[in-house]
Amino acid sequence: MAATTEPTRPPITPSKPFRIALYPGDGIGREVTEAAVQVLDAVSASGEAAVDLHWFDWGCDHHARHGCVAPGDFLDTLISFDAIFLGAVGWPQRLPDHVTLAPLIEMRQAFDLYACVRPAKTFQGVSSLLANPGPIDMAVVRENSEGEYVAMGGSLRNGASQELAVESAVHTRHGIERILRFAFDLARTRRGKVTVVTKSNAMRYGYVLWDTVHDQVAADYPDVITDRQHVDAACMNFVRQPNEFDVVVGSNLFGDILTDLSGAITGSIGLNASANLNPSRQFPSLFEPVHGSAPDIAGQNRANPVGAILAIAMMLDWLGITAAGTRVRSVVEATLASGAGTPDIGGALSTTEMTAEVVKRVLA
Ligand code: NAD
Ligand code: IPM
Ligand code: MN
Repeated sequence: MAATTEPTRPPITPSKPFRIALYPGDGIGREVTEAAVQVLDAVSASGEAAVDLHWFDWGCDHHARHGCVAPGDFLDTLISFDAIFLGAVGWPQRLPDHVTLAPLIEMRQAFDLYACVRPAKTFQGVSSLLANPGPIDMAVVRENSEGEYVAMGGSLRNGASQELAVESAVHTRHGIERILRFAFDLARTRRGKVTVVTKSNAMRYGYVLWDTVHDQVAADYPDVITDRQHVDAACMNFVRQPNEFDVVVGSNLFGDILTDLSGAITGSIGLNASANLNPSRQFPSLFEPVHGSAPDIAGQNRANPVGAILAIAMMLDWLGITAAGTRVRSVVEATLASGAGTPDIGGALSTTEMTAEVVKRVLA
């Protein structure tokens, strides 16, 4: 099958520092962004990366002051950056989620951040919620530009007892093929296995197209082992035999759901990072933890900063500073292995104390 995706261009190597846009957002998004920036500053101080950070105070507070969560031209502002870091957005008690979350979806779609990579692995020093999981090391690849998130629909007779709402999912051959190729290419750098998650037994158009394109793409990767699971079975198998998974690929919604689960089975969603990539590098890519703004613990200095810090590691990798990315990951592993941790993983450290443990090791 002929590839329809653009070839991936090499990372940019600017003579100037990398310009990074920071969008801390709401709730613990602000706390974990502070943590991530401290780690980035420590990486800079050790001479491994030069960064120029720009803070954007968008979110619920911005809405209270200006009547919008982000200015109308926020995409124009962001487009010139080398990368974007987002803490988390949303605070349903203050604003409806579809208002606060809209800029995140807009960035993913306008910047064609079609490949969302969400690694989940067990760490020494962190217990899984499962009794005997064995080592888990998977990467969920989420189609991030279409599927169930295209906001194609409408409603009628609002407020009436006959009210109706229609929301369509859009799956294109182009979109499916490029994300499957991304997943197969990623598998070649890992353990060589791709599991495609669909629901083609019940939804007979979109996910059947996923099956068709999967068969065609798989023929180009005879060295990669591949299988398909329906999303209900995949959820069961994430719990029952999580170490069977290497690369898991699915639609926008299925990738979202599966990555809260992959977070929980590896100890806490607070540990998981997410890279929203534009593989052609025409637009800046976006890095964030998988978790949300956690209003239930916001302002208490108890959020786990590890997911945000590992998102910084993914950003350093993407910018081509892979030695720094690898070092941040190994420092995080060593910190967790030492027994340091926030309450969500059974530890006693605050967000700032946990961050200090990581920073100390980066600077060592
Ligand atoms: P959530 O991920 O914010 O929290 C779910 C649970 O996990 C909570 O009990 C929370 O305390 C815990 N948790 C999450 N991150 C943690 C961390 N780093 N350390 C320790 N515990 C952590 O999901 P939710 O409660 O469903 O959503 C809250 C808000 O966040 C909503 O507005 C939602 O729409 C939004 N949200 C945003 C993003 C994002 O910005 N990428 C992702 C998911 C949810
Ligand atoms: C995520 C989040 C988002 C999503 C929300 C905030 C729109 O849950 O990044 O996992 O569903 O994609
Ligand atoms: Mn999610």
